[in-house]
Amino acid sequence: MTALISGSIAFDTIMVFRDRFKNHVLPEQVHILNVAFLVDELRREYGGCAGNIAYNLGLLNERGLPLATVGKDFGSYSQWMKDWGVPQDYVRRFDDQYCAQAYITTDLDDNQITAFHPGAMNMAHKVAVPTNEHAKIGIVAPNGRDGMLAHAEQFADAGIPFIFDPGQGLPMFNGAELLEFVNKATYMAVNDYESRMVQERTGLGMEELAKRLDALIVTRGAQGSDIFVDGEAVHVDAVEPEDILDPTGCGDAYRAGLLYGLINNLDWKTTGQIASLMGSIKIARAGTQNHHFTLDQFRGLYRKAFGSDF
Ligand SMILES: Nc1ncnc2c1ncn2[C@@H]1O[C@H](COP(=O)(O)OP(=O)(O)OP(=O)(O)O)[C@@H](O)[C@H]1O
Ligand SMILES: [Mg+2]
Repeated sequence: MTALISGSIAFDTIMVFRDRFKNHVLPEQVHILNVAFLVDELRREYGGCAGNIAYNLGLLNERGLPLATVGKDFGSYSQWMKDWGVPQDYVRRFDDQYCAQAYITTDLDDNQITAFHPGAMNMAHKVAVPTNEHAKIGIVAPNGRDGMLAHAEQFADAGIPFIFDPGQGLPMFNGAELLEFVNKATYMAVNDYESRMVQERTGLGMEELAKRLDALIVTRGAQGSDIFVDGEAVHVDAVEPEDILDPTGCGDAYRAGLLYGLINNLDWKTTGQIASLMGSIKIARAGTQNHHFTLDQFRGLYRKAFGSDF
């Protein structure tokens, strides 16, 4: 069974400045800011929500088709996706653009200076939701604004149930637009902070939002997650990670677990637990697509964490 994954495909370039920004940014001179940081550590990672979710779903042996737009620098990422068996049928390339990319510089105080270039991501609406893939489920993850709006509409028109996952795209939408997404979507997945922002913008509380959806999923980092379904909250514990190296991409790994459960008609507790284990495995590796496992290994870890099988 196939999942259609609308979202970004992006490069993340992460640099570590082995000093403190405050030693170099002088408050009385910020009006003529001109600083260069020598960074001896640099990683370039494959990222973006669609790329991450499809990669994670692939680890679980399910087929996720990213609906995404990329630029002229997609080459190495394309090869990576081929190596990991992630299909590119609905990845469209624009040769006059670059892929979306973030340049993140971190200092020893864990402060970050980030530049984000959306590039080809802003063309996401040029890819349409396919109706001939027998897709069981879709997800609208952070992407170009027009793409998110178009794909939600197309999923609804095609009768394909989908998860609305606004993530870092949330600030682009006002209350009325968010309500439209909620009304079209079958599920919504947000983290704690995003859940507050959705409530604030729509003026609806969690219970009222949950009533408009088959399930509302709220992730809370190390505190696990809650799934609001049928007027009840199912709490899902976090799984003690092997290491805590990099929380980036835990949300995407978790969402792949949700898609896996929905594709396989699993109950919400089991689905949430699979998603939770995905987040816990992810956090032990730097980068969003550097954790690997076989489905058998995953089943073993699941048994160890929850004392049952799925
Ligand atoms: N420290 C942790 N220990 C165990 N599990 C974790 C931890 N952090 C995250 N997870 C798992 O991953 C899920 C998603 O994480 P979180 O709520 O931080 O998402 P997020 O804020 O959207 O993350 P991001 O957008 O950075 O990927 C959590 O619900 C939890 O199951
Ligand atoms: Mg997130």
